[in-house]
Amino acid sequence: MLQDHELKAAKERLLAGGVVAMPTETVYGLAASINSEEGLKKVFSLKERPFFDPLIVHIADLEQKGQVVREWPEAAEILAQEFWPGPLTMVLPKQPQVNSLITSGLDTVGLRMPNHPLARSLIRAVGSPLAAPSANKFGKTSPTKAEHVRKSFAADEVQVLDGGPSDLGLESTVVSIGKREGCALISILRPGVITEDMIRDLFRGKGQAVVVERIASHASPGHTEHHYMPSVPLVILETEAALGKQLLQRIYADFQLMPNTTGAELRLDANPKLAARNLYGRMRECAEGGAEFIFVVHRKEQSGGLWEAIWDRLNRAASRRY
Ligand code: TXA
Ligand code: MG
Repeated sequence: MLQDHELKAAKERLLAGGVVAMPTETVYGLAASINSEEGLKKVFSLKERPFFDPLIVHIADLEQKGQVVREWPEAAEILAQEFWPGPLTMVLPKQPQVNSLITSGLDTVGLRMPNHPLARSLIRAVGSPLAAPSANKFGKTSPTKAEHVRKSFAADEVQVLDGGPSDLGLESTVVSIGKREGCALISILRPGVITEDMIRDLFRGKGQAVVVERIASHASPGHTEHHYMPSVPLVILETEAALGKQLLQRIYADFQLMPNTTGAELRLDANPKLAARNLYGRMRECAEGGAEFIFVVHRKEQSGGLWEAIWDRLNRAASRRY
């Protein structure tokens, strides 16, 4: 159990321009106060994150949104009422005072209310929203446990608040909100637990016209083609056949591995909720268990709904497909 003094120390650290890893229901975040330029700069340098990749701002309650966004369209209210606190980030026009480090100079800002009591207690204690990307080095696998964060950052630079394993295990769905022909337009920039169908059904249920679209990854600056990568190569097998000798030879050649090198299979749970929750932890275990490469079999029944987000991450984490 987290002690009161740990929360107090975290608050003081954030107010003094320091960085704290906070648990959320999606993945752990590396947080700084939105009002501390020093803290924001540390987040980028600790993560080795390029400045072109904007951070998400986390709020504890709806009152705080006014500190961050200057417009609150009706579609945002509908989404917030249904999915907040929860794994949805909305990209909206920013308030002029929001530090441009957070937004990479864009006129918009990503906003989310996380569904983890500790994250929201921390935001309330600090008294202002917290900017937090996932608490991993840029391009690497996101952390779903406190120990994952501890392995990536020095203890004196990042205080880690342990809130237990992340329940969902995948980063939030990122959407931007606009208008098309007088109707609300929701563009999915990064798929996640909140799916396209869930958003469409919500608006339909309220008798509200909406266009929901999935758009190319570059619309979300940090959602690059290669991301979430484990420390050894991950390959996707587009066949359900066992990893035969011939295929193994190709993998050895492609990655210049010694013959008879061992590969670890990343097994996905049949239930997509469990597959998502365990995905990043298993990826780490495979890499740390001494395997020289990891393989995952793409099964045809793993499509639609939450599988889309799981395979989005696996495709970006993978070095090759066979
Ligand atoms: O679940 C999550 O979203 C986690 C937890 C900690 O909240 N955070 C997270 O942050 O995944 P990060 O930085 O790893 O991913 C944020 C994504 C990036 O792909 C970034 O490019 C995008 O959100 N993003 C942030 N602000 C944006 C903006 N103004 N316009 C477009 N994309 C934006
Ligand atoms: Mg990330």
